[in-house]
Amino acid sequence: MSFQAKVVLITGAGSGMGRLAAQRLSAAGATVAGADVNEEGLRETGRECERFRAVALDVTDARAVETAVADIENDLGPIDRVMNAAAIMPTGLILDQDAGLINRIMDINYGGTVNVTMATLPGMLARGKGDLVNFASIAGWVPSMHFGAYNASKFAVVAFTEVLYHENRNRGVRFACVCPPPVATPLLDQAKSNPKILEGLPPIAPEQVLDTIERNLDAGKLMVFPDRTSRLTYSLRRFVPGLTWWGSHKAEGI
Ligand SMILES: NC(=O)c1ccc[n+]([C@@H]2O[C@H](COP(=O)([O-])OP(=O)(O)OC[C@H]3O[C@@H](n4cnc5c(N)ncnc54)[C@H](O)[C@@H]3O)[C@@H](O)[C@H]2O)c1
Repeated sequence: MSFQAKVVLITGAGSGMGRLAAQRLSAAGATVAGADVNEEGLRETGRECERFRAVALDVTDARAVETAVADIENDLGPIDRVMNAAAIMPTGLILDQDAGLINRIMDINYGGTVNVTMATLPGMLARGKGDLVNFASIAGWVPSMHFGAYNASKFAVVAFTEVLYHENRNRGVRFACVCPPPVATPLLDQAKSNPKILEGLPPIAPEQVLDTIERNLDAGKLMVFPDRTSRLTYSLRRFVPGLTWWGSHKAEGI
């Protein structure tokens, strides 16, 4: 994979898969603009990237996103790839979470994806090239207890990305909607309500997710299910949804 002279914008680049993507794409020759609210995390990411611009940015702030994108394109050149990886995942039964937190999860996970997409996709379409990679989750297909607010935000990312793809396919931009099962990153530490379902789902390696994204982009496949568990869970939800709820009830004892 060569990314010589390419410019990549990655949100959530201060941790987890965003950080790993920044390091890999930088090693492949890209100039990476890494955006995050976690500035210390960005510094850490930048230490392992040759051409890295740290962008302190809250993706929920649409104006700040527009300004950041304009600055990046002025200074580094047109953006060739966007990876929307910023997200939070505080778990909890819905009625144990206050409305402010539920709305905040939606604002970051879905609203942030919308803000960054709206600021970058028109430029890529006008140039007739580019990649838009939106991180959803298997939780964007399969709802389960303790993940209600996160589920809602990721269902929204799936729908948004799927419609965008169909409205703009054949215009030179490649799309990926990434739907992993649990992945070994710091995000899982936010599951503080202790959903038992996670105990039966050992996290996969972030490398596996990033490798599958590249393969799917090359193959022109929109939905990225990086392993057997995510493919199986998706099929179960589609064809026998009662079974996924049976598993959720059994795991949580509710
Ligand atoms: N780790 C998993 O189990 C898993 C599974 C499926 C999908 N995903 C998705 O993959 C993506 C990457 O997740 P990860 O596991 O690398 O998580 P992570 O927690 O390691 O990284 C997420 C980053 O997003 C940043 N962020 C949070 N709010 C922000 C905001 N308002 N503005 C800018 N940045 C913000 C955080 O500071 C953090 O650095 C996310 O969209 C996540 O929902 C993760």
